[in-house]
Amino acid sequence: MKQAIGVIDSGIGGLTVAKEIMRQLPNEHIYYVGDTARCPYGPRPQEEVKGFTWEMTSFLMEWNIKMLVIACNTATAVVLDEIQSELPIPVIGVISPGARAALKVTKNNRIGVLGTEGTIKSEAYVRELIAINMESKVTQLVCPKFVPIVESFQYNSDIAKKIVKETLTPMKKTDIDTLILGCTHYPLLGPLIEKEMGPQVQVISSGEETASEVSAILHYKKTLNIESAPPEHRFFTTGSKELFGKIASDWLGISDLSIQTASIEK
Ligand code: SIN
Repeated sequence: MKQAIGVIDSGIGGLTVAKEIMRQLPNEHIYYVGDTARCPYGPRPQEEVKGFTWEMTSFLMEWNIKMLVIACNTATAVVLDEIQSELPIPVIGVISPGARAALKVTKNNRIGVLGTEGTIKSEAYVRELIAINMESKVTQLVCPKFVPIVESFQYNSDIAKKIVKETLTPMKKTDIDTLILGCTHYPLLGPLIEKEMGPQVQVISSGEETASEVSAILHYKKTLNIESAPPEHRFFTTGSKELFGKIASDWLGISDLSIQTASIEK
């Protein structure tokens, strides 16, 4: 099926999921929307996050996508169920895959979750982890400074190192053996987070498990792209095309990306 997989995020964080979908499903077309002009979603009221997420969804539905991935934890926590029940196509989020991936590797059932204010307040990870394994003991931590560092293309800088170190101090005092990056922006800080937490803690991002779920659904529905032509990806941003292009090329390792401006506000 030639229709694309839609991926939405508050900004560039969902590229960590898109990259994994591209790796696992290299024939698939991906249409990505990053609402960089209104990022971050984390500190915003739930109703606002809901409205913005619906605007990105409606925009991509006009492009006749065959499946939607809400690659933003904050949006998944607030509006996944509603969008799933209203769209005629499969819709998945990133919280269940992240929780499943953590439960696969933990040995002591002590799991940490890093996230935005919205995600942590929603307790969506806690519910998901306990629903699968009620022995799970979850420690959550809000990391308000991480998304701005990533969105401003400073994820390899000394300031990023300092902020990661300071922010993770309380998490380092716990006995977790597994740490979920509960925001799709955080994998861009992954090497710094791993270094800070040390080798006894497994750091988990939801991209790989989310892409596996996309693959399983497309197989099951027999809607994989079986055309022989190479895929055409499209990237839409509500903010600066230049900055989005720089980060996307750096992260995806692709230089000639098609980046367009999206006017999604209703
Ligand atoms: C944000 O926009 O605050 C981060 C997105 C996420 O929660 O994954």
